Amino acid sequence: MAMIALKCPDIQVAVVDLNQQRIDAWNSECLPIYEPGLYEVVKACRGRNLIFSTDCRRHVAEADIIFVSVNTPTKMTGVGAGKAADLAYWEGAARMIASVSTTSKIIVEKSTVPVKTAEAIGKVLRRNCADPDVHFEILSNPEFLAEGTAVKDLEAPDRVLIGGRDTQEGRAAVEALSAVYEQWVPRERVLRANLWSAELSKLTANAMLAQRISSINSISALCEATGADVQQVAHALGTDSRIGSKFLNASVGFGGSCFQKDILNLVYICESVGLERVAQYWHSVIQINDYQKNRFVERVISGMFNTVSGKKIAILGFAFKKDTGDTRETPAIDVCHGLIADDACLCIYDPQVSKDQIYRDLAAPKFQWDLPMLPNGAQVPFTDSQIEKSVSISSDPYQASAGAHALCVITEWDEFADLDYERIYASMSKPAFIFDGRNVLDHGRLQSIGFITYGLGKPIDPFLRSQQC
Ligand code: UDX
Repeated sequence: MAMIALKCPDIQVAVVDLNQQRIDAWNSECLPIYEPGLYEVVKACRGRNLIFSTDCRRHVAEADIIFVSVNTPTKMTGVGAGKAADLAYWEGAARMIASVSTTSKIIVEKSTVPVKTAEAIGKVLRRNCADPDVHFEILSNPEFLAEGTAVKDLEAPDRVLIGGRDTQEGRAAVEALSAVYEQWVPRERVLRANLWSAELSKLTANAMLAQRISSINSISALCEATGADVQQVAHALGTDSRIGSKFLNASVGFGGSCFQKDILNLVYICESVGLERVAQYWHSVIQINDYQKNRFVERVISGMFNTVSGKKIAILGFAFKKDTGDTRETPAIDVCHGLIADDACLCIYDPQVSKDQIYRDLAAPKFQWDLPMLPNGAQVPFTDSQIEKSVSISSDPYQASAGAHALCVITEWDEFADLDYERIYASMSKPAFIFDGRNVLDHGRLQSIGFITYGLGKPIDPFLRSQQC
């Protein structure tokens, strides 16, 4: 919305939320999320044609176009628990919009939603609006930006996708929204589709991106078993223009608020329409991701003489990727849990994630981040006191590494490549191990300093090979 305000000075943009604290943060110098370049965009238009407010009803009543960007978490209980998207927030928003509307409006689905949500939401809107002359036209306009590069992605998107009904009102609404984007996006990049195609495109785009990561991660295991180097394999694959080079970085696993949730949702939709085999296919993308996280933990434990009990391990990076403070579904949570279960003492450093956030994530049941309250009976993997006993947080990577037996790189922050590894080596217990879950370090140099190194999908160090269980 900030980008729309920046690029379209004639449009008044009001961002509304019920949460006063969040709105206060958006109105302050310290935005509630870390996203490179976002503060500059917000600052340029805040108070001009961009406002942040908790007065939802007033701004919704006044608007011509309403972008609904509420959470659509995975359902935790009831039918479809663990897979289906929970549309409770969406439905609540639709009821509120209907109850305050006295003029016709275009309703834009920005949240990622299951296919055919627009149909259900349309019914809620129409049945809850007192004025029969008010018309709601629903469009699907999924967001493809990635965190950490959001401003860049929005400045020059590969495409903008708008789905609408093939009726006179539907086509007019698509054109109205397209006109907003066309103020900075070339018209040929604004794709038009029917509603269901647009909704399904978003789920499928995320599923296919995640599938590429699981594919290369599965090959990383094969590389380790055979002596091939996954980065060389990825490079060779990526130079084939039909495959392309992006999203082929082997990693400790994908995270983030979208990939797992959207695949689970796709799986659920396939199962709902009886496509069991298709559901299994997509589910395997998540299974390989879980396998990769476990495999990493097993490598750490087996490499360190089959025990990490009582050993200090420095965890470098906790966010799900670099340049964000977001920890939703970060592989760091599973890796830390795996090591804590084997009695390791962890010291975690991340340049953007707060101490409180890390403790909350490690003590929370899965998906807790997206729920308004803890559902009854949800399993917390470890108690708060267990986490506090096994985990400390440091604001300095050198302090986190001092006295450690091993370093584990979980997030690919640029600064990790530039640390003074001679200094780190001197301060660590020996033998000093580095397990690089992102392949961002110079392993040859580290080995010459004296480290025993492990890189995902890289030829195994003879020292580690002899430790394999
Ligand atoms: C994703 C989609 O890219 C975006 O289009 C959609 O709108 C939201 O979901 P995001 O979750 O912000 O964006 O990050 P992305 O860059 O896609 O990375 C997701 C995860 O995959 C991260 O954990 C990242 O580290 C991992 N990843 C990415 C890899 O492990 N290897 C890669 O080659 C690329």
